Amino acid sequence: MATKFSLAFLICSSLIVSAHPQELKFVFHGFKGNETNLTTEGASIIKNTGLLRLTNRSQNVIGHAFYSESIRMTERTPPSHLKNVSSFSTHFVFAIVHRGSDPGGYGLTFTISQKNKFPEAEADHYLGLFNKATNGSSNNHIFAVEFDTVNGFNENADRNGNHVGININGMISNAAEPAAYYSEGSDSNKEDVDLESGDPIQAWIDYDGQTSVVNVTIAPASLDYQPSKPLLSKWVNLTDVVLDNMYIGFSSSTGLIKASSHYILGWSFALNGPAPALNLSRLPEAPKEKSPSSLKTSTVVLIAVLSSVVLTLLGVLIVLLLYKRMMPFERLEEWELDCPHRFRYKDLYLATKGFKDSEIVGVGGFGAVYRGVLPTTGVEVAVKKITRSSKEGMKEFAAEIESLGRLRHKNLVNLQGWCKKKNNLLIVYDYIPYGSLDALIFHPKDDAVLEWHERFNIIKGVASGLLYLHEEWEQVVLHRDVKSSNVLIDLDLNPRLGDFGLARLHDHGELSHTTGVVGTIGYIAPELARVGRASTSTDVFAYGALLLEVATARRPIGSGHFILVDWVMECFQTDRLLEVMDQKLGSDFVVKEAELVLKLGLLCSHYRPEFRPTMRQVIRYLNGEEELPMIENWGVFDSGRVTKVDSKFMKGISSDQIRSYRSSSLGAISYSSFDAGR
Ligand SMILES: *[C@@H]1O[C@H](CO)[C@@H](O)[C@H](O)[C@H]1NC(C)=O
Ligand SMILES: *[C@@H]1O[C@H](CO)[C@@H](O)[C@H](O)[C@H]1NC(C)=O
Repeated sequence: MATKFSLAFLICSSLIVSAHPQELKFVFHGFKGNETNLTTEGASIIKNTGLLRLTNRSQNVIGHAFYSESIRMTERTPPSHLKNVSSFSTHFVFAIVHRGSDPGGYGLTFTISQKNKFPEAEADHYLGLFNKATNGSSNNHIFAVEFDTVNGFNENADRNGNHVGININGMISNAAEPAAYYSEGSDSNKEDVDLESGDPIQAWIDYDGQTSVVNVTIAPASLDYQPSKPLLSKWVNLTDVVLDNMYIGFSSSTGLIKASSHYILGWSFALNGPAPALNLSRLPEAPKEKSPSSLKTSTVVLIAVLSSVVLTLLGVLIVLLLYKRMMPFERLEEWELDCPHRFRYKDLYLATKGFKDSEIVGVGGFGAVYRGVLPTTGVEVAVKKITRSSKEGMKEFAAEIESLGRLRHKNLVNLQGWCKKKNNLLIVYDYIPYGSLDALIFHPKDDAVLEWHERFNIIKGVASGLLYLHEEWEQVVLHRDVKSSNVLIDLDLNPRLGDFGLARLHDHGELSHTTGVVGTIGYIAPELARVGRASTSTDVFAYGALLLEVATARRPIGSGHFILVDWVMECFQTDRLLEVMDQKLGSDFVVKEAELVLKLGLLCSHYRPEFRPTMRQVIRYLNGEEELPMIENWGVFDSGRVTKVDSKFMKGISSDQIRSYRSSSLGAISYSSFDAGR
């Protein structure tokens, strides 16, 4: 009842909210102190002075800077509740600087888009928003006003491309005019504006949601007022372009030959009202790197002075570069330069606040894991820090990580890259916020017990992640440490298997204070413990332990030498299989699925590898595409020491009291002797 009520309330309140005009208003006089309000990407940075530099003058670079939060840009007005795009208004000041007589390019845009990342976008005339294939597609949901300095789609076009355009979903403008403004009191008298003069230029973009007209006005900042007649005034249909939630910001790009730096000095924005006027005196200084063409180069003295300054600067630069090379901070060996997954130590250091203890989110078998936010992209990551005793084998390690970094699957915690610093190895993963399967099963928060269908879904997901590692990638990757604490659960309760392949690093003698078997007690297959050879079926064994764990909420090896597999086996053989189910579930589970999971768990935990299914078979069983085989000789141990699972300890005593046992799966190897062998 309560939930029904709150649901109804939610629906009502969302209707009420959307029927009212949205409110959002912000103003940035420079971006100093407001770095977190923007998400910058690519070449974009916020300089110490507060200037937002979208691109530098490198060739073919892209820069994006978007307001960090998406904003609601539509309203539905009763009685019809038809979608209406909200009025919006923005005012900003930009500067475009090119080098001397070099051609500048390409330009920048103010953009409203369904997304704030454009991984496929291209530079030059696509301005970092589109590429050849996406250009013009209505799936883009992009409205942009371009301030472009290159005409048309041709790198070699004349430099009369100094124009402003209104673009929808592509680079063909719906309306465009050479950059200019109307002089005050005149309807026809226009003054040209050179977009790439290096001087700050003001721009105003206003859209009226009632009339669907967008106005674009520009003027040099030196003018200090808004011309009353807009340069462009155009009716546009944004209904299908603007979705409910959109991102707003800037994009910019340079070309192969033509490359300018693009700057934003200040920016204001408002929904359903005029954007707050920028106070030009509060903006950061315009970029210093002025185009020499705007300098008076008449006297020889000036040239002499300039060139000596340049020479001195060059000298300083060379000294700085040499100094940097000598610094141990980030010296790269040649092979490292070829590694696409290499991160800069500085970025990871900043991301994790200097590897502060408060940022630790877990401690795994190989080292501590920190949460971090990459300063360059604002993306959340998990950084695993492994300290090694020597620097040997670093190259092999990197090669390994490079190859693991190419694995991509929805049920894996993707490895994004790595970094080394002295004896520290840092491995960067996707950040999964929700928690580990282990924690959700054994320490559920606020009694949030995982429901059966969620558990079943998790089990299937882990299986498909393992199948990918074993069979679907270009080479076989053994996980070697499958266990519940290595399964992370994302917000949608999908499992993501982490730490895969890392154990292989042992083979390179990397983390070698432990030798021999890698894994976790309770998940280690008997043949692995005996001869130390990992295989896909030792992974399957560990997966079996995980299946039983998820169904029963008991650890594979408990206190008092309790062994989960044996207990489940006992109950199975005495026809009481479902008694092992997690008590917290009560009877809220699907009997057929539960039996399947338990029996499959036993099958995967079979002490003889040849009886264990492959992960592909596991998935077929879980999907009900194939019946589980009947296994007769469950408890036979090949040394003959254990001929049948010993059931004497099941006589009416609870599992926690069990003192003596003989494990069918670990066989004759006892917990303590195994431990000593490590
Ligand atoms: C910019 O930062 C200042 C100080 O941190 C803050 O008061 C202000 O609200 C921020 N502006 C915006 C538009 O977020
Ligand atoms: C756009 O410009 C026209 C013509 O100057 C003007 O009538 C209209 O009010 C302007 N609309 C907005 C939203 O500023």
